Amino acid sequence: MEIVLATRNRNKVKEISEKLKIPELSILNLDNFKNFPEVIEDRRTLEGNAVKKASEISSRTKHITLADDTGLEVDILNGAPGVYSARFAGEGCTYQDNNIKLLKLLSNAPKSKRGALFRTVVAIKVPGKKAITVEGRCRGRIDVKLSGTKGFGYDPVFIPSGYKKSYAGMSLSFKNKISHRGKALDKAKKLLLKLMKEK
Ligand code: IMP
Repeated sequence: MEIVLATRNRNKVKEISEKLKIPELSILNLDNFKNFPEVIEDRRTLEGNAVKKASEISSRTKHITLADDTGLEVDILNGAPGVYSARFAGEGCTYQDNNIKLLKLLSNAPKSKRGALFRTVVAIKVPGKKAITVEGRCRGRIDVKLSGTKGFGYDPVFIPSGYKKSYAGMSLSFKNKISHRGKALDKAKKLLLKLMKEK
């Protein structure tokens, strides 16, 4: 069976491909399909964006498609940036801009008030069928500084509960075991195995 990952984010492709190592499943990504316009992530929920991405790419490629949408929900910011995590520091901003903005906003918050939740919704769309979604969560806190060199996005400022290192200080396979995306992908893997059996 073949599936397409509805993302051009290399870090996501790596994390997803590592988790979904299933014999007889080949994983394609958008680099295998040239000149596709970006899917605009304009829904108000992670679920809405994940379903939109999976559905648009599936209808173009005619393949089973997996899309993820992720948000970082910071307690003291009432759940912001949430679904707007990518452009938190403004249109065209970098990961570094987002992290610096977050650290500044929380500069006066003590450790006990720095709680946050990373949430990923994965949508799987089989052509002709309704998209199915699964969710993964990881609680943690926003550190007072950036640390670690691995990963991407908010990884250098997010310390998962029960650990001392940020996501960016962890290997990809360790992050994948405990992370929001890893947990969503464990559920997605079960769905894919079921689909493969039905084929
Ligand atoms: P999206 O799912 O690509 O829309 O991601 C939204 C924002 O969250 C982007 O700024 C990503 O860089 C960030 N992000 C997504 N997944 C992760 C992750 O696993 N770690 C850290 N940041 C992430």
